[in-house]
Amino acid sequence: MSINYAEKIPNNVDLAHDRTLQRALEHWQPHFLQWWHEMGPSDFEKADVYLRTATSVDAKGWATYGAVKMPDYRWGIFLADQEPERKIGFGDQMGQPAWQQVPGEHRSTLRRLIVTQGDTEPASVEQQRLLGHLCPSLYDLRNLFQINVEEGRHLWAMVYLLHAYFGRDGREEAEELLARHSGDADKPRILTTFNEPISDWLSLYCFTYFTDRDGKYQLKSFAESGFDPLSRTCRFMLTEEAHHMFVGETGIGRVVRRTLEVMKELGTDDPARIRAHGAVDLPLLQKYLNFWCSSSLDLFGSEISSNAAASFANGLKGRPDESQYADHVLRDVSLKLDTPEGAQEVPMLNALNEVMRESYLKDCEIGLKRWNRAIERAGHEFRLTLPSSRFRRAIGSWVGLPVDPSGKLLPKDEYERRLHEWVPSPEDKAFVKSLMQKVIEPGKMAAWVAPPDRGINNLPLDYEYVHLA
Ligand SMILES: [Fe+2]
Ligand SMILES: [Fe+2]
Repeated sequence: MSINYAEKIPNNVDLAHDRTLQRALEHWQPHFLQWWHEMGPSDFEKADVYLRTATSVDAKGWATYGAVKMPDYRWGIFLADQEPERKIGFGDQMGQPAWQQVPGEHRSTLRRLIVTQGDTEPASVEQQRLLGHLCPSLYDLRNLFQINVEEGRHLWAMVYLLHAYFGRDGREEAEELLARHSGDADKPRILTTFNEPISDWLSLYCFTYFTDRDGKYQLKSFAESGFDPLSRTCRFMLTEEAHHMFVGETGIGRVVRRTLEVMKELGTDDPARIRAHGAVDLPLLQKYLNFWCSSSLDLFGSEISSNAAASFANGLKGRPDESQYADHVLRDVSLKLDTPEGAQEVPMLNALNEVMRESYLKDCEIGLKRWNRAIERAGHEFRLTLPSSRFRRAIGSWVGLPVDPSGKLLPKDEYERRLHEWVPSPEDKAFVKSLMQKVIEPGKMAAWVAPPDRGINNLPLDYEYVHLA
């Protein structure tokens, strides 16, 4: 079904034929717009931004480009096409028809899963609210805004499910999604990573690399869900999500490239001299990777989790790419987990958060290989690495333990003394902040980051991706 743009809320769910739902969502819409106005990108509402908008969910229409003022972006409800006779692909009800309605016994769990996912979407917009003022180029500014409007649309995706399938509780949850705010002392966002401030673009690149990738893994596991509307919503969200990680991977790659140029120019790998030249030394980049990777790893939850076991067994949340596994029921298998008390054999169902975390880390390695190849080619021995998943845990069996990024348990005082060798110190953050000078001349780049290989949608790099009013 194509998307009807004549409607107030563009959608491919035939909203016009469900007046009650349509009215409820049209009631929520001005609240969303007010939230965008107050909590979305500050001071850029009048700018024309070269954005892609979905006009249908097929390959031709999902990315239609044009200049749009962000408040006029057509946020809407787009589900991937329904697969006829889709079956539940895992858990104890494997092979049964997928549900088109919420099964009563799973109602509160599903609602919690949808609210938790939905909460992250507007949270990231709030976290990135002030970054436009420090953009390294118009190309980057446009990418930031593209991500922001799409996270807004992902909120719509979850709010649609809440309104359409969860009645009054769902409508209340939809209001709450606009009432919590990132970093708010009284009403913070649900997950810690989404309350961390993002006040510089190095953090944005790391966030989009690591945290949006967590988003990809969550969406992939929901794409497997037996609750078909959730699956269809998430399958379409994944097409949008890919760009967010692209911004992270190419962003960090461009930082590495610029740093290597400066190292070559100066003939040194001395961090102090590289910083004096206005670039990010590689050990400093490593600290940012350590911070955002470890923070994002917490989003997968405890290694041992009865919630994860129940969600899988009940067919609510599968593993990313469920079909690549041989066993989809997991009743008679176990996994050996490393805990501070030694190796522990855990029923596989209870270890699914860890299974997901491990496949996530494998995906994270891909960018590191690419960046390290560039460093190697430039003749340097330094290598970027991912921190051990025991490092800086705020959840699970390694919570609060003094472990270094290589996974080694240290005496507590040594850990505390050395922590800023591994994650950014206040001085590191102040230095990175000092690099953030706004560059808005078409085609120009800030001095700490190399230009991208190509522009958006085959346009030249010096295209005016954002026309500032
Ligand atoms: Fe998202
Ligand atoms: Fe995202």
